[in-house]
Formats: sequence, C-alpha cells, structure tokens
Amino acid sequence: MPHVLAKISLQLLAKSNVDFLNIASRAQSNMWSNVPMGPPDVILGVAEAFRKDKSPKKVNLGVGAYRDDNNKPYVLPSVRQAEEIIFKKCLNHEYAPIVGDATYCDLIAKLGLGDNSLAIKEKRNVTIQSISGTGALRVGFEFIAKHYGHAKEIWMPAPTWGNHPQICNTLGIVNKRYRYYDPRTLSFNLKGCCEDICSMPPGSIILLHACAHNPTGVDPKPEEWQTLSEIIKEKRILPFFDMAYQGFATGSVDNDAFAVRLFEKHGHQIILAQSFAKNMGLYGERVGGLTIVCADTDTAAKVMSQMKILIRTLYSNPSINGSRIVTEILSNPDLKAQWLADVKEMADRIILMRKKLREGIEKRGNKHKWNHITDQIGMFCYTGLKPEQVERLTKEFHIYLTKDGRISVAGICSSNVDYVAECIHKVTADAKPRA
Ligand SMILES: Cc1ncc(COP(=O)(O)O)c(C=O)c1O
Repeated sequence: MPHVLAKISLQLLAKSNVDFLNIASRAQSNMWSNVPMGPPDVILGVAEAFRKDKSPKKVNLGVGAYRDDNNKPYVLPSVRQAEEIIFKKCLNHEYAPIVGDATYCDLIAKLGLGDNSLAIKEKRNVTIQSISGTGALRVGFEFIAKHYGHAKEIWMPAPTWGNHPQICNTLGIVNKRYRYYDPRTLSFNLKGCCEDICSMPPGSIILLHACAHNPTGVDPKPEEWQTLSEIIKEKRILPFFDMAYQGFATGSVDNDAFAVRLFEKHGHQIILAQSFAKNMGLYGERVGGLTIVCADTDTAAKVMSQMKILIRTLYSNPSINGSRIVTEILSNPDLKAQWLADVKEMADRIILMRKKLREGIEKRGNKHKWNHITDQIGMFCYTGLKPEQVERLTKEFHIYLTKDGRISVAGICSSNVDYVAECIHKVTADAKPRA
C-alpha cells in the first residue's frame, strides 16, 4: 500500500510540475504581448451603451442604418421580390470574376454616371464590384497609393466620415482637411472651401461626398457644385466621390447623382465609390462598386489590369448574393420602378421626421434657430448640440447620439419624435443663442 501511495504522489508531483512549466512557458511565449488595447469604435460604442440601457424611453440616434416608422430594420419590397426571383433560378455558387460580374458592373456604372455618360459610351470607365462602400474606398485609396503619379495627398472635408482618414492612415497616405462645414451658420462654407482648394498642390486628390454628407447633412447647392467643379478643374485636382447615399438625400437617385454627373460632363477623370447598403438596405450583403474614369480606353485597360492584381491579393473576388440582388433590380424595369419608389419612401420618411422634430422643438417656444434640421439633407443631422447637452440627453433622457451632436434621423419615428423634441428643448432652453 505505501508503495502505491508513493507512486501516486510521485505522479501528482510530476503533473503539477508539468502544469507549472506549461503556465510559465505560455507566459514567456505570449506571441501577442506587444498588442496594445485599441480604442472602441465611437459609433459602435454608442450602440453598445444603448443596448445596455433598460429604460423603456430609450432612443438610439447613433444608428447608421435606416429604420422604418416602427423603428425596425427595413427590407425593401423590391429586394424581397428580387430575392424570390433569384431563389427560383436555382443558381450555383461558383466564384465571381476578380472584379465582379460584368453585367452588375455595367448597371451600377450607369446608375452612378447616368445614361448619357460619355465615359461609359467611350468605354473609358473601369468599374469593379467592391465590398460595399468601405471596400470601394479601400481599393480606391490603395490604388492611389500604388499607382497615382501626382501629389499623393487626399483632401477631405472637415468634418468627414471617421473611416475616411482611418483608411488613409492605414495605407500611409497623407490626408488633410479642407473647410466644408461652417459651425456658425450650420451650413456649407463655400468661400472657405474654395480658398482651401486654391491652396491645394496641383494633382492632389479631393474627396467629395456626392450627396447626404455624413456627418453634417449639409450638401453644396447645384450652383455651388458648378463653382467647385470649375476650380477643381483649373487646379488640376482629382475628384474622388464617395456616394454612399444615392437616393437618400432627395428621394431621387438621379438628383442625388447630380454632382457626379456634372463633374464627369465637365471632363474630370473622377473616381466614384458606390454603396448599396443604404439605398437598397443591403447593409450586410456588402455590395458596392468603384469606378475610375480614365482619359482613354488604353489607359482604362491598364488600370483594369492593375485593379485585378490589387483585388486578387486582397480578397480574390467579391461575394455573389448581393450583386445578384442589385443586378435583378436594376435590370428588370418593373423591379427598378418598385425600387425607386422604395428609395423615395425612405427619403420621404426622413424628410417628414426632420419637419416634425423641428416643429416639436419650436412649438415649445425654444429661442434658438432650428431651420438647419430641415435645411440639412439625408440620414444625418448635425444638430449643433454641445457635448454637455449631448451628455444630458443621454444621462437624463436615455437618448443616444455621438458627442459631436450628430443624430441619425432614421432613428426618429412617429412614436418618439415628440419625446426627442421635448428633450432637445429641455437641454438647450437655457443655453446662450448661437453666435
Ligand atoms: C460617407 C460614407 N461613406 C461610405 C460608407 C460605407 O458604408 P458601407 O461600407 O456599409 O457601404 C458610409 C457608411 O456609413 C458612409 O457614411
């Protein structure tokens, strides 16, 4: 018996030694010990705080996705119909070509540049399917980093969507800001913008939000776009349009593509990033496009060849489901008509909520100006609320938004608009009028 006990205790001792050695060696060989904790994403942080709030009154105005009037995610009727048609076709799941399906690329180029685009007629556009709008920006910026032969500086509006500078920084591209939004007037600063464009090095790249500017909801007027196009041309600057909200601003996909088409008509060799996340509600499908308008077909062929090399090493080829839905909608006249009506319905609901929010604040006798709520356009509204007012909205009233005072109007619906108006009135009632 003592013999057996001695054997067991020896075994235990050996095991604990092994455990000890394992832990010690794991500590020594932590291959990722150098990785610092990264800051949380601002928008996702707002969503997380909202999720944890148990109040029945809570409102999320940080969402970057459209919600219907019941505050629910919305699947467009045109998309549902397209899905049914595709399902019945019993298609296979083979790989897409590196740059996506050719029919899809033709259709989206036309949707962006318009039926009368000279670049399309002359086959000077290089259009690829991208992983939604972010993927289009990433591929576009990376193409610039690798192949652009002029001043490699990307100028972005101040402020801009947070991911724009982040993508550039990841790629080591110099990115600077031009004046865009005037916090005094809560509107577009044409003079400042033009002055800054004039001082950009010739050949640099200017990033323009084609419509429904995120985060401010402030877009240049048609005559202001005209002016911008002239100066940008004179300074030989390359316009890069980010069009993530085509149709969301005015309810018309053609109106919202005004600037893109104007610049193309003026002979700019524009770059265009497109997304179908918002205007088709295909957020998780990750479907979009990137177009580079070239000077001639020879250059287009070379650009396309390099585009393929770039994409092959990034993700090899794009996914097929989202592009099938987009193709079905854009190629079937009945479905397309339904989609245009769906887009208009979403834009109209946003426009109505802007109107109701403004009325709700003004009818309470609030002494500040609120015309910017209805003057601004698209899903986002830069309210002009100060960080401390935002904090009160969240802490006292369970209304969630980013510190810069941006609200997603899509988060407002008939059942909460009055509550939001009342709370905005309460947090601003005692503040000094804006200068
Ligand atoms: C200005 C802007 N560009 C691009 C995107 C890209 O979106 P996604 O990658 O979902 O298409 C967004 C999304 O919020 C945006 O606001």
